[in-house]
Amino acid sequence: MLSQLTLSNLRNITELSIRPTAGINLIVGDNGSGKTSILEAIHLLSLGRSFRTRSLKNIVQFGQQQLQVIAKVKDNIPVGLQFNLTAGLQIRLNNAPLKKLSELAMQLPLQLIPANCHQFFEQGPRYRRQLLDWGLFHVEPSFNFQWQSYRKVLQQRNSAIRQRKNAEEIQLWDTHLARHGETINAYRQKQLVLLLDQFEQVFPRLCPEFREGTFAIKYRTGWSKDIALDESLRVSIERDRQLGYTRSGCHAADWSFKVNDADPSEIFSRGQQKLFSLALSMAQARITESINHQKSILLLDDISSELDHSHQNNVLTELATLPVQSFITATAIDAKISDEIGLFHVKQGMISDSKS
Ligand SMILES: Nc1ncnc2c1ncn2[C@@H]1O[C@H](COP(=O)(O)OP(=O)(O)OP(=O)(O)O)[C@@H](O)[C@H]1O
Ligand SMILES: [Mg+2]
Repeated sequence: MLSQLTLSNLRNITELSIRPTAGINLIVGDNGSGKTSILEAIHLLSLGRSFRTRSLKNIVQFGQQQLQVIAKVKDNIPVGLQFNLTAGLQIRLNNAPLKKLSELAMQLPLQLIPANCHQFFEQGPRYRRQLLDWGLFHVEPSFNFQWQSYRKVLQQRNSAIRQRKNAEEIQLWDTHLARHGETINAYRQKQLVLLLDQFEQVFPRLCPEFREGTFAIKYRTGWSKDIALDESLRVSIERDRQLGYTRSGCHAADWSFKVNDADPSEIFSRGQQKLFSLALSMAQARITESINHQKSILLLDDISSELDHSHQNNVLTELATLPVQSFITATAIDAKISDEIGLFHVKQGMISDSKS
């Protein structure tokens, strides 16, 4: 959770400071006023990268040398991020240089619903794996270790395959790969059960048209059905050598949703797809809080695109009950604004009016 946020020289924002509320924060302003840039700054702070550009140089205000994002997180712990065109990225957490980006991500669990939030249906399995693993990163203490170990062993195995080593030498990696892979797989299966359970409760509140809907999740482990991963690696060694890489494993897992026995992308409207993504993030936030008592941050860019007044109200009502600090942008806000909501009007990169 952020209790204070100050930005300087970030896109069109020369200097801006806000004190967000612990719950819902609405950022309202015209096109190009700097709303998404505020979300971008929070994303940068949590993950050390932007969701709009690969090169942080693009975020530094034209004509300036460096940008800064300063915030207080959790119990007033200071975090400072600086990106300088020549010196690069520097982050300090609690007045000490950050060793690993994952330290900060751990402190600030953050989920983003971008304006075009249809990735679940449009992007490939990698996106869906990352979505699932986000939850595990925050609730399962050894997930990060298991995943990093798995990746390292996979790289070694793939490099042995590329070097055209013989089968026995490649298979030296299989026991380790299978051990980490089976652990990750078990975590994922457990998390999907929790996710479906929470999703089934949240989604009909956001989208009452589906109050009577039935929801199911289909999970594919990434290797042959009904056999263990080490067995699958063993029987597919010749195929892997032909392909030049390890095809089976939890790096190839995927999952999908069924709504009323159908693929949701074929039956959901655009607005319903947006509510679907929101419900998934809300479900993850609830799971995270119930297991590790950590409140997460939700960035929702452009609530008004594709959602009518009544569905916007459903989203705000649900958010008010969630263990989440949210930052929501809109060009105009039609929904009812209760007293607990922080409201920030942005004009040409500056806060023109606020209620927090
Ligand atoms: N490096 C930069 N330096 C200065 N200004 C920039 C830079 N990059 C982008 N801008 C400008 O900053 C402004 C803020 O953009 P932002 O995307 O935050 O607006 P927004 O309020 O989210 O608008 P919309 O409602 O259209 O989504 C835009 O006018 C953009 O052209
Ligand atoms: Mg925007």
